[in-house]
Amino acid sequence: MPTSSFFSDPAILSLVSASLVLLLAQIYTNVAVHRSQLPRMKAWVVVKNGGPSEALALKDVGEETTTALPVPQGANVLIRVSHAALNPADLVFMRHIPTWVPFRRQAIPAMDFAGQIVALGPQAAAVPSHAAAPLVVGARVAGCISVALIATGHGALVEYLTVPAELVARQPLAFGDSNELAGPPSAGLLGCAGQTAHLAATDPCAEAAFRANRPRVLINGASGAVGSLLIQISKARGAYVAAVCSGKNAAFVRRLGADVVIDYTKHDPLSAYLAATPTYHGSGAFHLIFDCVGDQSLFVKSPAYLLPQGALVCIVGKGLMAVPYTLQNRLLPSFLGGTPRTYRLLGMAPSGKRARAVAKWADEGGLVQEMTIDSEYGMADVKEAYEKLATKRSVGKIVIRVQADKEVVQ
Ligand SMILES: NC(=O)c1ccc[n+]([C@@H]2O[C@H](COP(=O)([O-])OP(=O)(O)OC[C@H]3O[C@@H](n4cnc5c(N)ncnc54)[C@H](OP(=O)(O)O)[C@@H]3O)[C@@H](O)[C@H]2O)c1
Repeated sequence: MPTSSFFSDPAILSLVSASLVLLLAQIYTNVAVHRSQLPRMKAWVVVKNGGPSEALALKDVGEETTTALPVPQGANVLIRVSHAALNPADLVFMRHIPTWVPFRRQAIPAMDFAGQIVALGPQAAAVPSHAAAPLVVGARVAGCISVALIATGHGALVEYLTVPAELVARQPLAFGDSNELAGPPSAGLLGCAGQTAHLAATDPCAEAAFRANRPRVLINGASGAVGSLLIQISKARGAYVAAVCSGKNAAFVRRLGADVVIDYTKHDPLSAYLAATPTYHGSGAFHLIFDCVGDQSLFVKSPAYLLPQGALVCIVGKGLMAVPYTLQNRLLPSFLGGTPRTYRLLGMAPSGKRARAVAKWADEGGLVQEMTIDSEYGMADVKEAYEKLATKRSVGKIVIRVQADKEVVQ
């Protein structure tokens, strides 16, 4: 049956509509249940759409009457949040998802969390992915909130957070044995930035490039949270790394292992510079380009500096142009003006499995040595922290100290 007649069938249409209504009702009920179970506590809330200064307000959320911490349901855990890390995606949600949508009223931003488990749901200790070291009260964990939870406003800028046990990973011991020490880097590495670096570095095209003898890798946006991790991973995989950032961050990317630094502020457009200056490629064209900026011309011009079997792995879709660019980059044959190179645009869906994989990288010391922290702000200064993130000038992660460490015992 063609798609159009499939959806014009009244039975199918009512089934689809009923499912959508049920889904929305379920999301709405879940939000209400999560919130009503919690005691009165401080959280940042999106009160109107816009930039951080106008969009955010520090509020009391939860139940006035409740004083005791609730026992989470099912396989959820309740976390006393010590730190939240900020991501560019938070700003997109803040600006563009209308606050009048039922489940976005009082939406709490921030995807990345670190903290301690204070209560487990009846099935949480038995979650198979934690079988080797079952979760317990007091365990220091971190992770990135799932798309469904974050879209319905269950962010990390709150004192207590309920998430599925499956979504969390233990904070790497390599980062220290307290939330004060390990919280900030864990929120970044086990959160969105670390999981995105993992997604990009383990993409089949990246894996193929890393199998070359001393692969040559270009990283655009190398001083950002994701880029700074990709430098470390690429170096650990034996690559020659060319890092693109502004001159003021040259020493930083070199310290992480970059072999050569390209100051994009002096060489604009970057693609023309790369095409004209082959000495920057080491002994030849690149095997792999990680684009953490979303520069379409970097791909279009890439035959001048990317090997024919090489790939460009991009993590930034350019708004409304993301779809046409991706179609052009992936489907347009070269005789019609397409670029004869492999293009990958990746979108990270947070997962506990990925969080545990990056935690392992840190603990085993091989691929990631550090999660750089740009700055740490107190809970009162969240607007200022988001304004800094919005400048796109941060070096590593911006982290919020949600509350001071406190011993949580079983
Ligand atoms: N696809 C996904 O699932 C996914 C997941 C995470 C992030 N992202 C996206 O990936 C991008 C990077 O994320 P992030 O967390 O690493 O961001 P970030 O930490 O906020 O990046 C800030 C860094 O970007 C650098 N930068 C800004 N403009 C640049 C340019 N034109 N050329 C080179 N470097 C530039 C800045 O360095 P200078 O000061 O030296 O310019 C700064 O150090 C963001 O757009 C984010 O939305 C996508």
